Amino acid sequence: MTTFPLANLAEETAAALTRIGAANELADLLEAHAHVLGRRSALVALQKSLGALAPQERAGAGATLQDARRRVEEAYEARRVELEARERQRALELDRLDLGDVVVERVTWSPSVGHPSLVATTQRELEDVFVAMGFRVADGPEVESDWYNFEALNIPPAHPARGMWDTFYVELGDPETVVLRTHTSPTQIHLMEHAVATNTLPVHSVMPGRCYRRDTPDARHLAAFHQVEGLVVDRGISFADLAGVIETFTRAYFGPDIESRLRPAYFPFTEPSAEFEITCTICRGEGCRTCSHTGWIELGGCGMLDPAVLEAVHIDPDEWSGFAFGFGIDRCAQMRHQIADMRALIDNDVRFMEQFS
Ligand code: PHE
Repeated sequence: MTTFPLANLAEETAAALTRIGAANELADLLEAHAHVLGRRSALVALQKSLGALAPQERAGAGATLQDARRRVEEAYEARRVELEARERQRALELDRLDLGDVVVERVTWSPSVGHPSLVATTQRELEDVFVAMGFRVADGPEVESDWYNFEALNIPPAHPARGMWDTFYVELGDPETVVLRTHTSPTQIHLMEHAVATNTLPVHSVMPGRCYRRDTPDARHLAAFHQVEGLVVDRGISFADLAGVIETFTRAYFGPDIESRLRPAYFPFTEPSAEFEITCTICRGEGCRTCSHTGWIELGGCGMLDPAVLEAVHIDPDEWSGFAFGFGIDRCAQMRHQIADMRALIDNDVRFMEQFS
Protein backbone atom coordinates (compact mmCIF):
# COMPACT_ATOMS: atom_id res chain seq x y z
CA MET A 1 0.00 0.00 0.00
CA THR A 2 1.43 3.42 -0.94
CA THR A 3 1.03 6.49 1.19
CA PHE A 4 -0.21 9.74 -0.13
CA PRO A 5 2.71 12.18 -0.77
CA LEU A 6 1.48 15.05 1.38
CA ALA A 7 4.79 16.87 1.04
CA ASN A 8 4.41 16.73 -2.73
CA LEU A 9 0.92 18.16 -2.48
CA ALA A 10 2.08 21.11 -0.37
CA GLU A 11 4.92 21.76 -2.80
CA GLU A 12 2.70 21.53 -5.90
CA THR A 13 0.07 23.75 -4.32
CA ALA A 14 2.65 26.42 -3.47
CA ALA A 15 4.10 26.22 -6.99
CA ALA A 16 0.62 26.54 -8.50
CA LEU A 17 -0.20 29.60 -6.36
CA THR A 18 3.12 31.25 -7.30
CA ARG A 19 2.55 30.62 -10.96
CA ILE A 20 -0.95 32.11 -10.84
CA GLY A 21 0.29 35.14 -8.93
CA ALA A 22 3.07 35.65 -11.50
CA ALA A 23 0.68 35.80 -14.45
CA ASN A 24 0.54 39.45 -15.46
CA GLU A 25 -1.64 39.13 -18.55
CA LEU A 26 -4.89 37.24 -19.04
CA ALA A 27 -3.20 35.08 -21.67
CA ASP A 28 -0.47 34.05 -19.16
CA LEU A 29 -3.11 33.30 -16.59
CA LEU A 30 -4.97 30.96 -18.94
CA GLU A 31 -1.74 29.15 -19.62
CA ALA A 32 -1.04 28.90 -15.90
CA HIS A 33 -4.54 27.52 -15.38
CA ALA A 34 -3.94 24.70 -17.87
CA HIS A 35 -0.60 24.01 -16.26
CA VAL A 36 -1.72 23.84 -12.61
CA LEU A 37 -5.27 22.50 -12.93
CA GLY A 38 -5.37 20.92 -16.41
CA ARG A 39 -5.50 17.23 -17.30
CA ARG A 40 -1.75 16.80 -17.15
CA SER A 41 -1.24 18.89 -14.03
CA ALA A 42 0.53 17.65 -10.89
CA LEU A 43 -2.70 18.07 -8.90
CA VAL A 44 -4.64 15.82 -11.27
CA ALA A 45 -1.81 13.27 -11.12
CA LEU A 46 -2.05 13.32 -7.34
CA GLN A 47 -5.79 12.91 -7.57
CA LYS A 48 -5.30 9.83 -9.71
CA SER A 49 -2.92 8.41 -7.15
CA LEU A 50 -5.72 8.46 -4.53
CA GLY A 51 -7.08 5.23 -5.96
CA ALA A 52 -4.01 3.35 -4.85
CA LEU A 53 -4.49 4.37 -1.22
CA ALA A 54 -5.96 2.30 1.53
CA PRO A 55 -9.62 3.35 2.01
CA GLN A 56 -9.10 4.82 5.46
CA GLU A 57 -6.23 6.94 4.21
CA ARG A 58 -8.01 7.85 0.98
CA ALA A 59 -10.79 9.89 2.61
CA GLY A 60 -8.40 12.15 4.49
CA ALA A 61 -6.02 12.55 1.56
CA GLY A 62 -8.96 13.24 -0.77
CA ALA A 63 -10.21 16.01 1.50
CA THR A 64 -6.75 17.57 1.72
CA LEU A 65 -6.39 17.41 -2.04
CA GLN A 66 -9.84 18.98 -2.59
CA ASP A 67 -8.89 21.73 -0.21
CA ALA A 68 -5.66 22.39 -2.10
CA ARG A 69 -7.50 22.39 -5.40
CA ARG A 70 -10.07 24.85 -4.07
CA ARG A 71 -7.34 27.22 -2.91
CA VAL A 72 -5.67 27.11 -6.31
CA GLU A 73 -8.97 27.65 -8.08
CA GLU A 74 -9.87 30.56 -5.82
CA ALA A 75 -6.48 32.12 -6.43
CA TYR A 76 -7.02 31.69 -10.16
CA GLU A 77 -10.48 33.33 -9.99
CA ALA A 78 -9.21 36.26 -7.95
CA ARG A 79 -6.31 36.82 -10.32
CA ARG A 80 -8.61 36.62 -13.31
CA VAL A 81 -10.92 39.31 -11.91
CA GLU A 82 -7.88 41.46 -11.16
CA LEU A 83 -6.31 41.10 -14.59
CA GLU A 84 -9.61 41.67 -16.40
CA ALA A 85 -10.14 44.90 -14.48
CA ARG A 86 -6.61 45.98 -15.29
CA GLU A 87 -7.16 45.26 -18.98
CA ARG A 88 -10.40 47.24 -19.02
CA GLN A 89 -8.65 50.17 -17.40
CA ARG A 90 -5.88 50.04 -19.97
CA ALA A 91 -8.36 49.97 -22.88
CA LEU A 92 -10.14 52.94 -21.36
CA GLU A 93 -6.93 54.88 -21.05
CA LEU A 94 -6.04 54.16 -24.67
CA ASP A 95 -9.44 55.55 -25.57
CA ARG A 96 -8.80 58.89 -23.97
CA LEU A 97 -7.12 61.96 -25.35
CA ASP A 98 -4.92 63.67 -22.83
CA LEU A 99 -5.14 67.41 -23.38
CA GLY A 100 -2.90 68.64 -20.60
CA ASP A 101 -5.07 68.91 -17.52
CA VAL A 102 -8.27 68.11 -19.32
CA VAL A 103 -8.92 64.47 -20.12
CA VAL A 104 -11.51 64.03 -22.82
CA GLU A 105 -13.13 60.73 -23.73
CA ARG A 106 -12.28 60.01 -27.34
CA VAL A 107 -15.28 59.34 -29.52
CA THR A 108 -15.00 56.32 -31.73
CA TRP A 109 -16.57 57.99 -34.82
CA SER A 110 -14.46 60.67 -36.44
CA PRO A 111 -16.31 63.96 -36.76
CA SER A 112 -15.59 65.90 -39.94
CA VAL A 113 -14.00 69.22 -39.19
CA GLY A 114 -15.05 72.33 -41.09
CA HIS A 115 -12.67 74.68 -42.85
CA PRO A 116 -12.79 78.10 -44.48
CA SER A 117 -14.49 78.15 -47.87
CA LEU A 118 -12.42 78.39 -51.03
CA VAL A 119 -13.48 82.02 -51.42
CA ALA A 120 -12.37 82.91 -47.88
CA THR A 121 -9.02 81.20 -48.45
CA THR A 122 -8.58 82.95 -51.79
CA GLN A 123 -9.34 86.31 -50.18
CA ARG A 124 -6.62 85.69 -47.56
CA GLU A 125 -4.12 84.69 -50.24
CA LEU A 126 -4.89 87.80 -52.30
CA GLU A 127 -4.53 89.99 -49.21
CA ASP A 128 -1.14 88.41 -48.59
CA VAL A 129 0.01 89.21 -52.13
CA PHE A 130 -0.96 92.88 -51.75
CA VAL A 131 0.35 93.21 -48.20
CA ALA A 132 3.69 91.96 -49.51
CA MET A 133 3.57 94.83 -52.03
CA GLY A 134 3.04 97.37 -49.24
CA PHE A 135 -0.75 97.71 -49.27
CA ARG A 136 -2.89 97.85 -46.15
CA VAL A 137 -6.19 95.97 -45.87
CA ALA A 138 -9.47 97.76 -45.12
CA ASP A 139 -13.15 96.97 -45.41
CA GLY A 140 -16.39 98.84 -45.82
CA PRO A 141 -20.16 98.40 -45.54
CA GLU A 142 -22.16 96.14 -47.85
CA VAL A 143 -25.20 98.39 -47.64
CA GLU A 144 -24.43 101.80 -49.10
CA SER A 145 -26.18 105.00 -49.96
CA ASP A 146 -26.55 105.89 -53.60
CA TRP A 147 -23.97 108.60 -53.03
CA TYR A 148 -21.14 106.23 -52.07
CA ASN A 149 -22.00 103.50 -54.56
CA PHE A 150 -22.56 105.87 -57.49
CA GLU A 151 -22.55 109.65 -57.16
CA ALA A 152 -19.21 110.15 -55.43
CA LEU A 153 -17.79 107.82 -58.06
CA ASN A 154 -18.81 110.28 -60.75
CA ILE A 155 -22.01 108.43 -61.65
CA PRO A 156 -24.84 110.93 -61.12
CA PRO A 157 -28.46 109.78 -61.07
CA ALA A 158 -29.70 108.68 -64.48
CA HIS A 159 -26.14 108.48 -65.82
CA PRO A 160 -26.17 105.85 -68.57
CA ALA A 161 -23.21 104.09 -66.91
CA ARG A 162 -25.54 103.00 -64.09
CA GLY A 163 -26.66 100.32 -66.49
CA MET A 164 -23.24 98.66 -65.95
CA TRP A 165 -24.44 97.60 -62.51
CA ASP A 166 -27.83 95.91 -62.11
CA THR A 167 -28.62 97.04 -58.63
CA PHE A 168 -30.48 95.58 -55.67
CA TYR A 169 -32.18 98.37 -53.74
CA VAL A 170 -32.87 98.23 -50.03
CA GLU A 171 -36.29 99.43 -48.88
CA LEU A 172 -35.01 102.15 -46.61
CA GLY A 173 -35.62 105.89 -46.82
CA ASP A 174 -36.59 107.40 -50.16
CA PRO A 175 -36.98 104.88 -52.99
CA GLU A 176 -33.70 103.81 -54.62
CA THR A 177 -31.46 105.70 -52.21
CA VAL A 178 -30.00 102.72 -50.35
CA VAL A 179 -28.35 99.88 -52.24
CA LEU A 180 -26.52 96.62 -51.72
CA ARG A 181 -23.15 97.73 -53.03
CA THR A 182 -22.62 96.62 -56.62
CA HIS A 183 -18.84 96.83 -56.32
CA THR A 184 -16.20 97.53 -53.68
CA SER A 185 -15.43 100.96 -55.18
CA PRO A 186 -17.57 102.86 -52.61
CA THR A 187 -15.01 101.79 -50.00
CA GLN A 188 -12.48 103.93 -51.91
CA ILE A 189 -14.65 106.93 -51.05
CA HIS A 190 -14.81 105.99 -47.34
CA LEU A 191 -11.04 105.56 -47.25
CA MET A 192 -10.31 108.87 -48.96
CA GLU A 193 -12.80 110.71 -46.72
CA HIS A 194 -11.13 109.21 -43.69
CA ALA A 195 -7.65 110.10 -44.92
CA VAL A 196 -8.76 113.70 -45.50
CA ALA A 197 -10.49 113.93 -42.12
CA THR A 198 -7.47 112.54 -40.27
CA ASN A 199 -4.91 114.19 -42.52
CA THR A 200 -3.33 110.81 -43.28
CA LEU A 201 -2.84 110.87 -47.05
CA PRO A 202 -1.28 109.04 -48.92
CA VAL A 203 -3.43 105.90 -49.19
CA HIS A 204 -2.20 102.48 -50.32
CA SER A 205 -4.98 100.02 -49.50
CA VAL A 206 -6.86 97.00 -50.72
CA MET A 207 -10.48 96.46 -49.71
CA PRO A 208 -11.93 92.97 -50.12
CA GLY A 209 -15.60 92.22 -49.61
CA ARG A 210 -18.94 90.98 -50.80
CA CYS A 211 -20.91 92.69 -53.56
CA TYR A 212 -24.32 92.14 -55.10
CA ARG A 213 -25.75 92.46 -58.58
CA ARG A 214 -29.07 91.51 -60.07
CA ASP A 215 -27.32 89.16 -62.46
CA THR A 216 -28.53 85.74 -63.46
CA PRO A 217 -25.85 83.32 -62.22
CA ASP A 218 -23.92 81.58 -64.98
CA ALA A 219 -20.51 79.93 -65.45
CA ARG A 220 -18.72 83.24 -64.66
CA HIS A 221 -21.20 85.21 -62.54
CA LEU A 222 -22.91 85.01 -59.17
CA ALA A 223 -25.49 87.47 -57.83
CA ALA A 224 -23.57 87.67 -54.54
CA PHE A 225 -19.87 87.67 -55.26
CA HIS A 226 -16.62 89.08 -53.91
CA GLN A 227 -14.27 91.76 -55.13
CA VAL A 228 -11.04 93.21 -53.94
CA GLU A 229 -10.62 96.90 -54.54
CA GLY A 230 -7.24 98.59 -54.67
CA LEU A 231 -6.58 102.29 -54.14
CA VAL A 232 -3.42 104.34 -54.27
CA VAL A 233 -3.55 108.10 -53.70
CA ASP A 234 -0.13 109.67 -53.60
CA ARG A 235 2.03 112.23 -55.33
CA GLY A 236 3.26 111.61 -58.85
CA ILE A 237 1.48 108.31 -59.49
CA SER A 238 1.37 107.20 -63.14
CA PHE A 239 -0.31 104.55 -65.24
CA ALA A 240 3.00 102.66 -65.24
CA ASP A 241 2.66 102.20 -61.46
CA LEU A 242 -0.83 100.79 -61.97
CA ALA A 243 0.28 98.42 -64.76
CA GLY A 244 3.22 97.29 -62.61
CA VAL A 245 0.97 96.46 -59.67
CA ILE A 246 -1.46 94.48 -61.86
CA GLU A 247 1.39 92.59 -63.52
CA THR A 248 3.09 91.83 -60.19
CA PHE A 249 -0.18 90.61 -58.71
CA THR A 250 -1.12 88.31 -61.62
CA ARG A 251 2.37 86.77 -61.68
CA ALA A 252 2.45 86.28 -57.92
CA TYR A 253 -0.98 84.74 -57.77
CA PHE A 254 -1.32 82.78 -61.02
CA GLY A 255 2.31 82.05 -61.76
CA PRO A 256 4.48 83.02 -64.73
CA ASP A 257 2.70 80.69 -67.20
CA ILE A 258 -0.47 82.74 -67.16
CA GLU A 259 -0.51 85.80 -69.40
CA SER A 260 -2.29 88.97 -68.43
CA ARG A 261 -3.28 91.94 -70.55
CA LEU A 262 -4.86 95.37 -70.15
CA ARG A 263 -7.46 96.52 -72.62
CA PRO A 264 -8.90 100.03 -72.94
CA ALA A 265 -12.26 100.30 -71.20
CA TYR A 266 -14.57 102.84 -69.67
CA PHE A 267 -15.43 103.47 -66.02
CA PRO A 268 -16.88 106.80 -64.90
CA PHE A 269 -14.48 107.02 -61.93
CA THR A 270 -11.18 106.39 -63.73
CA GLU A 271 -9.56 108.01 -66.74
CA PRO A 272 -7.94 106.40 -68.60
CA SER A 273 -9.54 103.07 -67.72
CA ALA A 274 -8.70 99.50 -68.57
CA GLU A 275 -9.99 96.01 -68.12
CA PHE A 276 -7.51 93.35 -67.18
CA GLU A 277 -7.73 89.81 -68.36
CA ILE A 278 -5.75 86.61 -67.94
CA THR A 279 -5.45 83.53 -70.12
CA CYS A 280 -8.40 81.23 -69.40
CA THR A 281 -6.97 78.45 -67.23
CA ILE A 282 -9.77 76.03 -68.14
CA CYS A 283 -8.75 75.83 -71.82
CA ARG A 284 -5.28 77.46 -71.56
CA GLY A 285 -6.39 80.04 -74.12
CA GLU A 286 -7.84 77.61 -76.66
CA GLY A 287 -11.40 78.84 -76.12
CA CYS A 288 -14.10 77.06 -74.11
CA ARG A 289 -17.56 77.55 -72.66
CA THR A 290 -16.20 79.20 -69.49
CA CYS A 291 -14.43 81.99 -71.42
CA SER A 292 -17.16 82.21 -74.08
CA HIS A 293 -14.58 80.90 -76.59
CA THR A 294 -12.34 83.97 -76.31
CA GLY A 295 -9.41 82.30 -74.50
CA TRP A 296 -9.40 85.19 -71.99
CA ILE A 297 -11.12 85.76 -68.67
CA GLU A 298 -11.79 89.26 -67.42
CA LEU A 299 -10.71 89.65 -63.82
CA GLY A 300 -11.62 93.28 -63.30
CA GLY A 301 -11.24 96.93 -64.12
CA CYS A 302 -8.73 99.61 -63.26
CA GLY A 303 -7.58 103.09 -64.15
CA MET A 304 -6.20 106.42 -63.01
CA LEU A 305 -8.46 108.19 -60.51
CA ASP A 306 -10.70 110.67 -62.26
CA PRO A 307 -10.11 114.20 -60.85
CA ALA A 308 -13.89 114.48 -60.31
CA VAL A 309 -13.67 111.65 -57.75
CA LEU A 310 -10.78 113.30 -55.89
CA GLU A 311 -12.75 116.57 -55.85
CA ALA A 312 -15.85 114.81 -54.48
CA VAL A 313 -13.85 113.95 -51.35
CA HIS A 314 -12.00 117.27 -51.23
CA ILE A 315 -8.61 116.06 -52.37
CA ASP A 316 -6.73 118.50 -54.59
CA PRO A 317 -6.18 116.75 -57.96
CA ASP A 318 -3.31 119.13 -58.74
CA GLU A 319 -1.39 117.83 -55.73
CA TRP A 320 -2.51 114.22 -55.57
CA SER A 321 -3.09 111.54 -58.14
CA GLY A 322 -3.68 107.85 -57.94
CA PHE A 323 -5.12 104.72 -59.39
CA ALA A 324 -7.75 102.17 -58.48
CA PHE A 325 -8.55 98.65 -59.47
CA GLY A 326 -11.25 96.15 -58.61
CA PHE A 327 -11.52 92.50 -59.50
CA GLY A 328 -13.44 89.36 -58.64
CA ILE A 329 -12.16 87.14 -55.85
CA ASP A 330 -14.47 84.32 -56.93
CA ARG A 331 -13.10 84.69 -60.46
CA CYS A 332 -9.55 84.35 -59.12
CA ALA A 333 -10.50 81.20 -57.18
CA GLN A 334 -12.19 79.85 -60.31
CA MET A 335 -9.17 80.47 -62.53
CA ARG A 336 -6.61 79.33 -59.98
CA HIS A 337 -8.41 76.03 -59.37
CA GLN A 338 -9.84 75.56 -62.85
CA ILE A 339 -13.46 75.48 -61.82
CA ALA A 340 -15.39 75.42 -65.09
CA ASP A 341 -18.63 76.71 -63.55
CA MET A 342 -18.54 79.30 -60.79
CA ARG A 343 -21.90 78.16 -59.42
CA ALA A 344 -20.03 75.20 -57.89
CA LEU A 345 -18.83 77.72 -55.27
CA ILE A 346 -22.34 78.09 -53.86
CA ASP A 347 -23.80 74.62 -54.45
CA ASN A 348 -22.70 73.43 -50.99
CA ASP A 349 -21.71 70.03 -52.31
CA VAL A 350 -19.32 68.68 -49.68
CA ARG A 351 -17.49 66.59 -52.28
CA PHE A 352 -16.56 69.83 -54.02
CA MET A 353 -15.83 71.80 -50.87
CA GLU A 354 -13.66 69.15 -49.24
CA GLN A 355 -11.17 69.45 -52.08
CA PHE A 356 -10.18 72.83 -50.72
CA SER A 357 -9.65 72.05 -47.03
N1 PHE B 1 -15.75 98.88 -59.72
C1 PHE B 1 -15.53 98.38 -61.02
C2 PHE B 1 -16.48 97.24 -61.31
O1 PHE B 1 -16.89 96.57 -60.41
C3 PHE B 1 -14.11 97.92 -61.24
C4 PHE B 1 -13.13 99.03 -61.10
C5 PHE B 1 -12.58 99.37 -59.90
C6 PHE B 1 -12.77 99.77 -62.22
C7 PHE B 1 -11.66 100.41 -59.78
C8 PHE B 1 -11.85 100.79 -62.14
C9 PHE B 1 -11.31 101.11 -60.91
O2 PHE B 1 -16.85 96.98 -62.43
